[in-house]
Amino acid sequence: MSIHLPTIRNHFPALQLSDAGKPRVYFDNPGGTQVAQECLERMNHYLVQCNANKGGVFRTAMQSDVILEETRQALQEFINAKSKHEIVFGANMTTLTFQLAHAMAGAGWLKAGDEIICTRLDHDANVSPWLRLAQDTGAIVRFADINPEDCTLRLDDFEQLLNEKTRLVAVGYASNASGTVNPVAQITAMAKAAGALVFVDAVQYALHGSIDVQALGADFLAFSMYKIFGPHIGVLWGKFDLLDSLPAYNVRPAGNRAPGKFMTGTQNHEGIAGTLGALEYIAWVGKEYGVSHAAQFPHFASRQLHYQCGLAAMKAYEEDISRHLLCGLQAIEGITIHGITDLSRLHQRVPTISFTHARINPTDIATRLASENIYVWNGHFYAWEVVHRLNLMESGGMVRVGPVHYNTIEECDRLLDIVSCL
Ligand SMILES: Cc1ncc(COP(=O)(O)O)c(C=O)c1O
Repeated sequence: MSIHLPTIRNHFPALQLSDAGKPRVYFDNPGGTQVAQECLERMNHYLVQCNANKGGVFRTAMQSDVILEETRQALQEFINAKSKHEIVFGANMTTLTFQLAHAMAGAGWLKAGDEIICTRLDHDANVSPWLRLAQDTGAIVRFADINPEDCTLRLDDFEQLLNEKTRLVAVGYASNASGTVNPVAQITAMAKAAGALVFVDAVQYALHGSIDVQALGADFLAFSMYKIFGPHIGVLWGKFDLLDSLPAYNVRPAGNRAPGKFMTGTQNHEGIAGTLGALEYIAWVGKEYGVSHAAQFPHFASRQLHYQCGLAAMKAYEEDISRHLLCGLQAIEGITIHGITDLSRLHQRVPTISFTHARINPTDIATRLASENIYVWNGHFYAWEVVHRLNLMESGGMVRVGPVHYNTIEECDRLLDIVSCL
């Protein structure tokens, strides 16, 4: 059974809002999705019923401890980590990645002349921390290039860069600009064969597809719950022995064991509770609409299976919406889509679609759409490297339309109508 849009949309209070009679159309999802009711309820419950610091002997403090561990357990299952002690909470992916890079510098894992591979397709949060790590250690950063015609990574270039000096490969699972899904398992296998560590930025992928960190074989992976129908919380996963052996900047009473040592100060407890709610929403989608996908995941059961099925059900619908938008945009004179447009390759992209117009700059297009209460991002979206590589920085970057499973075909048509009349 495919997802039932009115029921799905009822789980998102923000989708019911209008301004001056114009319903809000959220195509800004790659910058942050709207929040599921389950998340709001968990946050509200936490703040009213359990609000306290952790580690105490009284009811609310103990409840806070329980919620943190429950969420860790749920996240372990969500990405199929080996242990919940591999899950670190933080402010956001960027902060966690800088923390990790800083810890790696302190650990002496890299020395002068070692090499780090980044890619031209990545968000800067998966580039700048590694540039800093290189600065701190004397290592060298090399960039794997892209095929500009479809914004896919050039694996031949990546392979050429790999050598015995490569200590770290930092790669994105999906691009926040072009929507390209990288062959991360293949890249990880190549990096591992060269003896390198692998860090995966899964921020743009985690809401569009299932992640199995054990099958992937990477060492670290990070994502953010505010891009997955949840609150502003970042999540870092790392293999336990690696995380545990890294030095962390923290206060002495925090101890020196993973994952706690990476969590400085009091965490965003209500956000962690809300994270559990967002995951409950995904599991609900799986139970309700994802049963027909269960055969794809023979090695998962109960809640883990529900997560996988939920994401699979969303993905099936997202492919319909990608097809509709790609065809509609390509039919408009003057539009260039920067990314995969071949409809037989939709499995190689998420529905994030970025384009430029031959005559009208991205800010003007986004502003015109905003005047109709249709929200899209314009500019470089911190996908600094790829926007430079495509020579689009000076002309204002791109317009990014980022639907998710709660967007409708009618919303796409409203956007297409406006863009076609520009
Ligand atoms: C691919 C990608 N990586 C990293 C980030 C940074 O995430 P955060 O805001 O959690 O630091 C973003 C944010 O847009 C992103 O799209």
